[in-house]
Amino acid sequence: MDRITSLCKRRGFIFPSSEIYGGFESCYDYGPLGVELKNNIKKAWWKTMVQENENIVGLDSAILMNPKVWEASGHLSAGFADNLVECKKCHKRFKETEIKEKCPICNGDFMPARKFNLMMKTFVGAVEDESSITYLRAETCQGIYLNFKNVIDTSRQKIPFGIAQIGKAFRNEITPGNFIFRTREFEQMEMQFLVHPKEADKWFEHWREQRLKWYLDLGIKKENLRLKDHDKKNLAHYAKAGADIEYHFPWGWQEIEGIHNRGDWDLSRHSQFSKQDLSYFNSETKEKFIPYIIETSAGVDRSLLIFLIDAYEEVKGGRTTTTESIKESETMLKLHQDLAPIKIAVLPLSKKDEITKPAKKIYDDLKKYFMAEYDETGSIGKRYRRHDEIGTPYCLTVDFESLEDKKVTVRDRDTMVQKRIEISKLVEYFNAKLI
Ligand code: GAP
Repeated sequence: MDRITSLCKRRGFIFPSSEIYGGFESCYDYGPLGVELKNNIKKAWWKTMVQENENIVGLDSAILMNPKVWEASGHLSAGFADNLVECKKCHKRFKETEIKEKCPICNGDFMPARKFNLMMKTFVGAVEDESSITYLRAETCQGIYLNFKNVIDTSRQKIPFGIAQIGKAFRNEITPGNFIFRTREFEQMEMQFLVHPKEADKWFEHWREQRLKWYLDLGIKKENLRLKDHDKKNLAHYAKAGADIEYHFPWGWQEIEGIHNRGDWDLSRHSQFSKQDLSYFNSETKEKFIPYIIETSAGVDRSLLIFLIDAYEEVKGGRTTTTESIKESETMLKLHQDLAPIKIAVLPLSKKDEITKPAKKIYDDLKKYFMAEYDETGSIGKRYRRHDEIGTPYCLTVDFESLEDKKVTVRDRDTMVQKRIEISKLVEYFNAKLI
């Protein structure tokens, strides 16, 4: 983890937030490569969930909502609270489940545990009193439940169908940590699939399998992933059945995504609290019912972390074949090409105009279609190493021969195979490879 954290900082994936003020409370900023990777993860999820499913549509609802939403959802009750313990001596606070008998900092005794609600409170408007309190959303799905009737009325969708959303969520976690694994501000990719109650089990199974497949298709190693079904007694306050997709992190197996059968909990509660009829009428069978919800809920930041951990490799003795002295080890990120921040690096082999000019022209042509980077600084070995380290799947070199044969050398990150490709066919070549 230390090496991955350091790579993230060194290469511009992730920085500590407010760093010049000493950082802030396990908050992080995504740098130039991090934001590309994050966007690519979201794009891959949207493609799989929305673009490739005719019965799933998207939504982008507000972070701030009427505070009644959180009363109805149960998030203001004990169901969305952790047991917090405070040390009598140093007053450090911990989650009760994460400590033993004595304080790990000063060996002091703990005060009795009390409930600590995880909702982030804020005030809306100019007056800061009880009437202006609201909350930053703790999960994105509530905005979906509130809009499901609007979606039905405007999109010709019929049950079974789903609504997908990507967006920020906030939780006042007692113990954030493990880099971006648990933070107080994070992003979720959630899909709520509305079904007839009788079909809930079938769809739960379907989404459980589909979501596991998504990570495998994007290159996560099979042995590092597992599905773990929840015991009935450990279910979240809203769930009838649940399963976690877990990843084998350097510190153990932990959840990266939850799949739940939320039953009619959410829509019934919102019906009750808003006094609006949120049932669904099937015009063919004339049946009226409150749909059940099958939810898939993934964390963007946690996914990004596992894609980094899983792709990270150190190659002892180095792998770049150059005349330079071989380094002790080289770092590689074997990211799936759909996720790689930069797809193609254009590297001129000389700084002379006769080489850099055509190289820049190639870059200008490619950047219209692909996230490409032009790089003429440092030796070619260093440039290859940098791109291996940030996961660039293709490096393209322009040399003196290119002036004669109008071809360039394209090197594959994983196989290191080099091929001469005609400059005029490059867009076509990469289209076939990258799309
Ligand atoms: N709507 C259901 C829901 O929010 P959850 O299991 O509490 O379920 C779903 O959260 C996913 O959101 C988690 O699997 C994780 O990937 C991400 N997540 C939750 N809390 C997080 C936190 N504090 N920091 C980073 N990611 C978090």
